[in-house]
Amino acid sequence: MEDLSQLQPAPDNAIVWRDGCLYLLDQRLLPRREEYLALRSAAEVGAAIHAMVVRGAPAIGITAAYGIVLAARQRFRASPADWRLPLQRDRDLLAQARPTAVNLAWAIERMGRRIAVIDASADPEPALLAEARAIHAEDVAANLRIGNLGAGLIEGATNVITHCNAGALATGGYGTALGVIRSAHVAGKVRRVFADETRPWLQGARLTAWELNWDRIPVTLLADGAAASRMRQGDIGWVVVGADRIAANGDVANKIGTYGLAVAARHHGVGFMVAAPTSTLDLSAASGDEIPIETRAADELLSCGGTRIAAPGTEAWNPVFDVTPAALVDAIVTERGVIASPNKEKIAKLMLKSPETR
Ligand code: MRU
Repeated sequence: MEDLSQLQPAPDNAIVWRDGCLYLLDQRLLPRREEYLALRSAAEVGAAIHAMVVRGAPAIGITAAYGIVLAARQRFRASPADWRLPLQRDRDLLAQARPTAVNLAWAIERMGRRIAVIDASADPEPALLAEARAIHAEDVAANLRIGNLGAGLIEGATNVITHCNAGALATGGYGTALGVIRSAHVAGKVRRVFADETRPWLQGARLTAWELNWDRIPVTLLADGAAASRMRQGDIGWVVVGADRIAANGDVANKIGTYGLAVAARHHGVGFMVAAPTSTLDLSAASGDEIPIETRAADELLSCGGTRIAAPGTEAWNPVFDVTPAALVDAIVTERGVIASPNKEKIAKLMLKSPETR
């Protein structure tokens, strides 16, 4: 049994590499229990991503990168002369864990580029661990910059709505949408956050509320269906959300319910901001129509907290992401800069800019 007592459960400490092992703060249990799972193989990492132990687009990319380190160790020990081909199979397996968040494929591809330049007879673990650590650290740096840039768009002091969890738990740390909210709160620009509960996994009620309480940022929970009515009260300045994949034309895939929020925001004259690192942009998808949308088991919707709630005989449609058309997005905030009213040309121009994460 490994000693997990040294690990400090905190939003910014959800993905930990220590003594050659990957530890994940089990997000399925939060906020009731703060427990880490120890993972030692790519198969365990893939299963953990699929089972939502870790979730959120950048977080699953970082986790997969560490998963490749674990896989490389196993493959090199089993066959020092021939570890590359089996490692490719491990990468393929990890890539299948969840389909929508492009950060997963992005991180696996980046690790692949590193693998390609490692000497065939060398132990690949040190170089791959350095790459995974770099992916992790760069994500935190990107989020700090996104936080500052996004906060700069908020004028005066206002209330905001957020959906799902795009916080430290969903990233390497600090968060994207919650990064903007954190920076804006420090600057006195966010009075209160209205967090959608986010059925069926309740990322808003369980995770976003946990993170905001941790930082003493005032948070009020909304049933998902209450967001439009809250906007109608007239005291919401912005909706701030993260993204799982942004297409070349600026269409945004994010947690199911985001599209409806964007429609309601436009109707009520509320700003709609998407905060995401450039690792979430997928220029190979011309529009949101080309983004694969994950559908999860019907039972996740028919039940709540492990208890069946739907009447017997009920079927469920359970897509867990939707696509918000670019026309409904007021700003996409990345670590390379802000795109107001996004379109294909502006996104292409941004991606040509050199990375600036500090
Ligand atoms: O199903 P999840 O919990 O992985 O969905 C997460 C989201 O939709 C987040 O908003 C998105 O990944 C951005 S996280 C910075």
